Amino acid sequence: MQHLIDIMDLSVGEIDGLIRTADDIIAHPDAYREKCRYKKLATLFFEPSTRTRLSFEAAMLDLGGRVLGFSEATSSSASKGESVSDTVAVVSGYADIIAMRHPKEGAPLVATMRSLVPVINAGDGSHNHPTQTLTDLLTIHREMGRFEGLTVGLCGDLKFGRTVHSLIAAMARYEGVRFVLISPEELKLPSFVKEEHLKPKGIPYRQTENLEEVMPELDILYMTRVQRERFFNEEDYLRLKDSYILTPEKLASAKADMRILHPLPRVNEISTAVDSDPRAAYFRQARNGKFIRMALIMRLLGIE
Ligand code: NCD
Repeated sequence: MQHLIDIMDLSVGEIDGLIRTADDIIAHPDAYREKCRYKKLATLFFEPSTRTRLSFEAAMLDLGGRVLGFSEATSSSASKGESVSDTVAVVSGYADIIAMRHPKEGAPLVATMRSLVPVINAGDGSHNHPTQTLTDLLTIHREMGRFEGLTVGLCGDLKFGRTVHSLIAAMARYEGVRFVLISPEELKLPSFVKEEHLKPKGIPYRQTENLEEVMPELDILYMTRVQRERFFNEEDYLRLKDSYILTPEKLASAKADMRILHPLPRVNEISTAVDSDPRAAYFRQARNGKFIRMALIMRLLGIE
């Protein structure tokens, strides 16, 4: 049985395969309508979500399967003090596959130890978010046609942003990729990501606080929200929340074929005036999330 806890659980070849399947689903959705008939997905969400949970559910429904689950810890037995591992031991008897989001780093990994069925990490604290990364990769591939040689700028909360950590791990495996890490000093990329994914392979990266200065170099600009729920105090959040606000004026120096991604939800970091720019790919990205999750569910259930 295979789980997806960390994006590195998948080889580059396996990711290619998922992207090919997702492209095929987009082109021929009707061919997939019955693939997961009689299969059940359980979504165990101990933390808020819109896209991730609903795209998982929509993915399973579009494959002809069914869904069950909860969307907040307060409506589950966690509120009575049940451990994650007991919840999973029980739910894995009711469903064929589990998607779990949890505020504690490592909770989905703990879940794999007691689960009878595949577990997918749908975001664990400020650690990882592998299915958002699959969504990001599908988007980059569809928009740019390649991964190799891209200069990827990541901007905002690189410290607590789990989508950033997983995306760097994934993109660092492609030839010629370089990273530009744009954040305030307090929200810099944690050293666990640099030590694990950038330094050992000598991947070029540069850190800066100035988005405008690096804008002309970027092929991808990955904007992120300042992760309020991970801050220890509200004052720091208020001071840092509007560090970067992307506007049409700031985009004037960007490449004509640059793409702007954002895992969403957006707060203030991208002005709505940017939405109509053809380079703004974030709503297409959100749509891609359903298709890559369809491919992933089939793959983990061993369905051709
Ligand atoms: C992200 C997350 O939950 O980490 N959202 C998502 O899954 N699309 C990003 C965020 O919450 O800022």
